[in-house]
Amino acid sequence: MGSLLSVSDIKDDVKYILDLAEKIKAGEIEEKPLEGKTLAMIFQKSSTRTRLSFDVGMYQLGGRAIFLSSNDLQMGRGEPISDTAKVLSRFVDGIMIRAIKHSDVEELAEYSDVPVISGLTDLEHPCQALADMLTIKEHLGDWKGKKICFVGDGNNVSNSLLLIAPLLGMDMSLACPKGYEPDENIVKTAQEYAEENDTQITITEDIGIALENVDVVYTDVWVSMGDEAEAKQREIDFAPFQVNSDLMSLANDDAIFMHCLPAIRGQEVTADVIDGPQSVVFDEAENRMHAQKAVLYYYMKD
Ligand code: CP
Ligand code: NVA
Repeated sequence: MGSLLSVSDIKDDVKYILDLAEKIKAGEIEEKPLEGKTLAMIFQKSSTRTRLSFDVGMYQLGGRAIFLSSNDLQMGRGEPISDTAKVLSRFVDGIMIRAIKHSDVEELAEYSDVPVISGLTDLEHPCQALADMLTIKEHLGDWKGKKICFVGDGNNVSNSLLLIAPLLGMDMSLACPKGYEPDENIVKTAQEYAEENDTQITITEDIGIALENVDVVYTDVWVSMGDEAEAKQREIDFAPFQVNSDLMSLANDDAIFMHCLPAIRGQEVTADVIDGPQSVVFDEAENRMHAQKAVLYYYMKD
């Protein structure tokens, strides 16, 4: 069955998992499919949505989740990741991890006998991308032929969106300041998916071009967890990229506004946009749970 570290790991099953999420949200699956199953949740970084949605999701599927702060684990005192993976595999049926380094999660998955699900690394945030796509379908009716614009840097959230959008037939643009472009390998893979699915990927510092014909305007914090040392410079470089009503007016009139949250009003987005009628951010947050229940069912059900 494998693990979910990247959107690419579910390339051929993205639609299947999202269909499953819709069914789960509508209450159309059996009761307690994960009865008796346990998910270990390792957090090396803060979280509100990811922690709660996995915990509540496991409970609602009939199983349980155990929160493990990396500060309290022996891993935090230097126990090898490989030993941690082997030991956890003897106790639990799945491991969810929010990690600082993507390579650590790859190592965990390599030595684990149970599925490993990423709840964010420095490279990707695949569960967020699934919840985002569920939200887009609910609000726009379909993905095919629609266009999403991410305004911000090439980060974990935009990397996963770059990979998932073409797989579902969406065009994607990224409006980012020079020097903050996404990871080269992610862009290369996203371009391949776009060619296979006849969609377009555009990466530009020109906000006007990026926002042409856009149905979804998406942004994220200017300073991701781990980038704090660059905060001052980033605030200067990203100022022209703030999502405010002027920027929103460049997108289609009925465009929706999305943000993975947490948000900083007055930085990457103004309060009138995130709290305004085009914003769907709380539906998006709720969908973390429905999408992840589908992921848990997909990876952990016998
Ligand atoms: N969007 C998201 O992953 O939120 P948390 O950091 O609160 O988990
Ligand atoms: N890019 C943000 C996402 C938080 C959910 C971060 O990594 O901090």
